[in-house]
Amino acid sequence: MSEILNTRDSFGSKFGVIAATAGSAIGLGNIWRFPYVVGENGGGAFLIIYLAFVLAIGLPVMLSEFIIGRSSQRNAFGAFKVLAPGKPWYLVGVMGVVAAFMILSFYTAVAGWTLEYIYQSFANGFAGKSSAELSSMFTDFRSESWRPLLWFFVFMAMTALVIIAGVKNGIEKYTKILMPVLLVILVVLCIRSVTLEGATGGLEFLFKPDFSKITARTVLEALGQAFFSLSIGMGTLITYSSYVSKKETLGSISFSVAVADTMIAILAGVAIFPAVFAFGIEPGSGEGLVYITLPNIFQQMAGGYVFSLLFFLLLGVAALTSTISVLEVIVAYFVEELKLSRKKATWLATGSVSVVGIMCTLSWGAMKNVELFGMNVFSLLDFISANILLPLGGLLIVVFVGWFLGRNKAKAELSNEGRLKVVYFPAFMMIVKFIAPIAIALVFLQQIGLIRL
Ligand code: PFF
Repeated sequence: MSEILNTRDSFGSKFGVIAATAGSAIGLGNIWRFPYVVGENGGGAFLIIYLAFVLAIGLPVMLSEFIIGRSSQRNAFGAFKVLAPGKPWYLVGVMGVVAAFMILSFYTAVAGWTLEYIYQSFANGFAGKSSAELSSMFTDFRSESWRPLLWFFVFMAMTALVIIAGVKNGIEKYTKILMPVLLVILVVLCIRSVTLEGATGGLEFLFKPDFSKITARTVLEALGQAFFSLSIGMGTLITYSSYVSKKETLGSISFSVAVADTMIAILAGVAIFPAVFAFGIEPGSGEGLVYITLPNIFQQMAGGYVFSLLFFLLLGVAALTSTISVLEVIVAYFVEELKLSRKKATWLATGSVSVVGIMCTLSWGAMKNVELFGMNVFSLLDFISANILLPLGGLLIVVFVGWFLGRNKAKAELSNEGRLKVVYFPAFMMIVKFIAPIAIALVFLQQIGLIRL
């Protein structure tokens, strides 16, 4: 055991920790998934529920993962084995590894679309196209087979290469430079989008709640999106925080990451919806929403060529800092539990994820007729992982911290063995013991129709 502890890699600085955690949280979930889910769920009212979930459930789950990871110094599976020996809690870790497999397979497909859009930006492929043409450009591309597959594999390989390089040389180095640049570009896009003619409809859609649009399904989607966007519920942050030094303040790291993540999602919404309304695009057009809308904006702005290229490049980087965090969950598990070398573990994980990833990538092409519960493979994995496995994982994680690990251990970890003041601690305990588990359970029960609120 001590051998593992001694040879474990760790983050080099506080900024590195925040950057890597924020790098995991900020990604396609904010810029691709958030706007399309908001669009499908009626706008403003969904946004309010989403924000409430981030604050009241997301943050406490995040802190709970940090407590588990840093106190055990293990991967998502091993952490439970160390903290609860002989008990079945490690199954939460197993569920996390399964969720990681699912997420990585469909997420990398979307990340591949980003590479196609980098290429199209470079080749000036959006120029002179009407809104309808840009829309079919996306749907035609997605229903091909070879191109989406090629980009999928390129992205998967990039992820694997960073992971092989290790935590400090890989993850940290790549994440801390580029996210601020993405933020600046996003702000520029927002400005262009809200100054388009007909933009106000989009702002109203996003910020004016219409609660008649809320259904049981909407609430579940909001919860799932909060978990997905914050990278919580499957042990990513257990794994990352196992590399965090005992001196860092877990409370402030979580808070900064949650704020940054939410800010980027809202900015993405402000960049997308005004343009959606201005160009007459359907807000509920699904997974293609961002890829269809943004090229329209780039065409209508000074320097659009450069902005488009830069934007998709940085979106690719944001996606990469997330895919590496998901792959790391699987690799850390393989390395520490199956005792594989880092390299072997990485290729084994990458290879097996790719099998499912191919099916996701072809979900609008060669495999479009394969459906279950009315969803193709891609949407099914997206739905099961984000809306079911992550909230369920989160539920078990808070119950573990609130009821099993106990008050003293949780407090010791959050306060760095009593050196820090943790004024929020009573509220935190109240949430992890009662509020979060009950709220998540109610959302599930409501979804399966057992209760009606
Ligand atoms: N949070 C990432 C995003 O918003 O793009 C996606 C993600 C990463 C989800 C890691 C889950 C995870 F464990």
